[in-house]
Amino acid sequence: MQNFVYRNATEIIFGKGTIAEVETRVPRDVPIMLTYGGGSIKKNGVYEQVQAALKGREVIEFAGIEPNPLYETCLKAVDLLRNGRVGFLLAVGGGSVIDATKFIAAAACYEGPDPWDILRSGGQQVKAAIPLGTVLTLPATGTESNGNSVISRKATAEKLAFYAGCVFPVFSVLDPETTYTLPLKQVRNGVVDAFVHVMEQYMTYPAEAPLQDRLAESILQTLIEVGPRTLAQPRDYESRASFMWSATLALNTLIGCGVPQDWSTHMIGHELTALYGPAHAETLAIVLPGVWVHQLAKKEAKLRQYGQRVWGVAAAEAAIQKTEEFFHSLDMPTRLNAYNINAEEAAEAVRRRFTERGVKFGEQGDIDGDAAAAILRSRA
Ligand code: NZQ
Ligand code: ZN
Repeated sequence: MQNFVYRNATEIIFGKGTIAEVETRVPRDVPIMLTYGGGSIKKNGVYEQVQAALKGREVIEFAGIEPNPLYETCLKAVDLLRNGRVGFLLAVGGGSVIDATKFIAAAACYEGPDPWDILRSGGQQVKAAIPLGTVLTLPATGTESNGNSVISRKATAEKLAFYAGCVFPVFSVLDPETTYTLPLKQVRNGVVDAFVHVMEQYMTYPAEAPLQDRLAESILQTLIEVGPRTLAQPRDYESRASFMWSATLALNTLIGCGVPQDWSTHMIGHELTALYGPAHAETLAIVLPGVWVHQLAKKEAKLRQYGQRVWGVAAAEAAIQKTEEFFHSLDMPTRLNAYNINAEEAAEAVRRRFTERGVKFGEQGDIDGDAAAAILRSRA
């Protein structure tokens, strides 16, 4: 096991009726900015519950944060914060709202000339952020309990991520009942995103970390059990609750402690969303099997372990097949042609971008532009 420092700064408040707890967690002595998306929270009662919890406070609202949140939109919120009065941000919604709020929180305190540098540098230049809390309505990203944020820039069709310790939410409220109104497609996307988060931290090579392996396998097994059940029985509270908690634990930094990590599927997937528009999880389901086949020799030991422990199959290839079948069982396509994306064209576009940026991903540091192109060509 490698050395690590583990500190998760987020308090999780989990369960039915917990939005009221916001009242005791949000500071009273400063104005608050409430951020949200396109209006789902106004249709399912979440907005009213948040309003009730914030009664008597000075609240500035910033609405209209879009899926795959835009840098251009975030800058409008940063403008509203210029006078320095707002002392706390409350994000209410899915990963996009929370990620945007993290960026807004950091950009409002950023002293450099160009806030895009926060993303260009992956967050290295972030020294401070306005504290933030969240009310999560979509289990998927784990952003409610980590320091990551992914922001897209319309002008250049880029999608980049940053990490900063100071944007961990101070608290996150997770009430599974708020997820009842999710369209089935968003539930499916959430199951796949959480599943692939586990894989990015697990499907590498044996690293003398048996506990991390077992934790990862438990999350995978739970998602395989409750994901389809949530889709089949949308108002089954217990399935929703287990799904929601699984998605948090999949990316709250715990299972990644002291182990090699991959993240090439995510990095290639972000390019597909930026260039062609499929939802985040849709890109992951396409790319993941391609990464595994491309890296089969290097990942074989872990693929076999996963196959045996999670699916009861012996061969690495069978483990890959089981995974694709699982995605299909959720009605999730795994090929580029499902979105009318030309594999050759996508391969060339991503190859060019990775090469220009000089980036290499994967636990071996060997997924460069050429490797990403080969992976995408295999997913036509
Ligand atoms: O905008 P509203 O009206 O709220 O509607 C949203 C949105 O249209 C809707 N929705 C959310 N909760 C709902 C609901 N509809 C009905 N009932 C509810 N309870 O769902 C739509 C999608 O929301 P979005 O926030 O975009 O989805 P998700 O949570 O999957 O977030 C995706 C974003 O997170 C990034 C992705 O790249 C993408 O930009 N990621 C962030 C990560 C992180 N910070 O750690 C890690 C991930 O790998 C991922 O990259
Ligand atoms: Zn993801």
